[in-house]
Amino acid sequence: MRVGVVGLKRGLHLADWCRRLGMEVVAACDRDPGCRAEAGGLLPDAVLTERWQDLLEHRLDGVILANDFDAHAPLAVAFLERGVHVLSETAACADAEEGRRLIEAVDASSATYSFAENYVLHPHVRLIGRALDAGELGRVNLVEADYLHGLPPEAVEELIGDPGHWRGRIAPTAYCTHTVSPVLALTGAWPVEVTAFSADEHDPRAAVVMAIRLSSGALAITRHGFLQGEPDSHWSWVSARGTRALAESVRGPAEEAWSVRIRSEAWANPDGRTREERRVPPPLLLPNTTTEPGTPSPRAVPAASTEHGSAVSRTDETVERDAEGTVLLLQAFQATVERGEPPLIPVRPAVAASLVGVAGAESLENGSRPVAMPGFFRDPTA
Ligand SMILES: NC(=O)c1ccc[n+]([C@@H]2O[C@H](COP(=O)([O-])OP(=O)(O)OC[C@H]3O[C@@H](n4cnc5c(N)ncnc54)[C@H](O)[C@@H]3O)[C@@H](O)[C@H]2O)c1
Repeated sequence: MRVGVVGLKRGLHLADWCRRLGMEVVAACDRDPGCRAEAGGLLPDAVLTERWQDLLEHRLDGVILANDFDAHAPLAVAFLERGVHVLSETAACADAEEGRRLIEAVDASSATYSFAENYVLHPHVRLIGRALDAGELGRVNLVEADYLHGLPPEAVEELIGDPGHWRGRIAPTAYCTHTVSPVLALTGAWPVEVTAFSADEHDPRAAVVMAIRLSSGALAITRHGFLQGEPDSHWSWVSARGTRALAESVRGPAEEAWSVRIRSEAWANPDGRTREERRVPPPLLLPNTTTEPGTPSPRAVPAASTEHGSAVSRTDETVERDAEGTVLLLQAFQATVERGEPPLIPVRPAVAASLVGVAGAESLENGSRPVAMPGFFRDPTA
């Protein structure tokens, strides 16, 4: 599978994983010559260019968009029109009009759109999803998600203080996709109304809390930005309360933060006993990642599959916890492009999550009044 990459910061990390997973990174671009020079060492076989438009001229199966946060949609549309499959970093679109155009472009294209939301695939989120799918929690009525960084004030200023950089110009609600995408994936619901609050009126850009009414009737509470108490699970903490039980990531240090606590009361259990349990995600193994040309791509497998006799050799690599989501989403993109499997996070939930940030910005501007979400992104077949 021949891949192109736009933007070589986060994009270089993704390109490196593509290579390790058996994809061929044939072209990449960044307007910054320093980034291109650094990429040259890691991607010696890729054509490196300054302009993303140059990538349209290459024979690509897929493109990864890791350019500025608020500039993905026009590039996605251009590649989709060329029949190139798109994997786009967060966010999918910067406003409703862009979101509408993106959905139209996907519907009209022979190629597919996948959202690069690794937070949906983090180990703790997958464990919570499994408990929900098994019916352990009942119907979800309250779901919460945090994406928080406990940086010192000067580091925050360095990150979001420059209005010339996308981190400085986007609304404080915009980078909500790492919380909203897991919420939508876990509940299978659409956002219908958003109310946003600054966490601290003395520092309104630093962190926000949003209350999102979902189409299922449940409420989602999301917090993101810069607040003390960051979770060690890649800054992500998720909790789902259902009508019968709770599943939430453990608020603990290091490896513990990837585990999930399940709690159900005596009345909810056939044996009449309270259940309080911790589940630890199995490691994700990657069979020998050194790929010779022509060998099949290695597939990441949960370690548990060894119990069922899968061939897992001694050279297997354990994927770092915070890279599991990235590995799984790149493998899913590969499966979509090479085998026609449906995108893991297709365009509609990607646009929905991104537009929650837009509605949140409008709510903030209007004294935290609730803002109705548009409905055009809802899946017509759902
Ligand atoms: N999913 C994750 O865990 C994760 C982590 C980091 C970043 N991201 C996302 O990846 C995207 C990029 O983030 P980043 O931290 O790498 O940002 P960054 O600003 O540090 O880097 C972006 C790079 O893209 C280049 N670029 C931007 N527009 C370009 C254009 N039109 N043509 C050529 N090059 C261009 C810039 O020169 C820069 O080197 C954002 O959407 C961000 O949200 C996601």
